[in-house]
Amino acid sequence: SKTTTSVKLVLLGEAAVGKSSLVLRFVSDEFQENKEPTIGAAFLTQKCQLSNRTVKFEIWDTAGQERFASLAPMYYRNAQAAVVVYDVTKPPTFIRARHWVNELKTQGSPNIIIALVANKHDLTGEDEEGEAGPVKPDVEDETGSSIVGRKVAYSDGQKLAEDEGLLFFEASAKTGMNVRKIFLAIANKIPIE
Ligand code: GTP
Ligand code: MG
Repeated sequence: SKTTTSVKLVLLGEAAVGKSSLVLRFVSDEFQENKEPTIGAAFLTQKCQLSNRTVKFEIWDTAGQERFASLAPMYYRNAQAAVVVYDVTKPPTFIRARHWVNELKTQGSPNIIIALVANKHDLTGEDEEGEAGPVKPDVEDETGSSIVGRKVAYSDGQKLAEDEGLLFFEASAKTGMNVRKIFLAIANKIPIE
């Protein structure tokens, strides 16, 4: 039988960017339109089957609300992997993501694997391949319903990821776009013990 490697993974990011929703999509393949804010942190596990081994993620889904920020070190300490999430429609959440990347680089495990994730891609109205799309204004579609519009350029996320040596994905917990890819990419970077 295949060997199993356990990996402690932490999710960090501003409140309401969709950390818990990404985990719910990965663990249960579900989405909740009005998900309640996380209090403190939540713990979940999920396995990834690679060709030659199994990677078992032990996931700490932290609370993004400011009053919980001081708890974060308890969860990222000893973490081998981190997923730093921002909302592609909210530029302040990208600034916050930069902060978490810096904190992980200075206070986290020396060889921590970090994935930067631009969530809520579905709100941009772009198709899933339109990754290099320009920043678009808010618009209405044919039915008159409003499309929020991309507010953080793909190139901004990509540049941060390149400068800091991070994995980078645009994703949607709502549609499932790229969610499995994030965890598979991390699993593939975990060294064999
Ligand atoms: P905290 O626990 O407070 O830190 O928030 P969080 O980062 O865990 O966010 P959560 O997953 O609770 O999602 C916040 C809101 O955004 C919920 O209403 C979700 O339904 C919604 N949401 C999450 N991901 C997506 C997405 O990919 N697209 C859209 N359209 N909405 C999303
Ligand atoms: Mg949450």
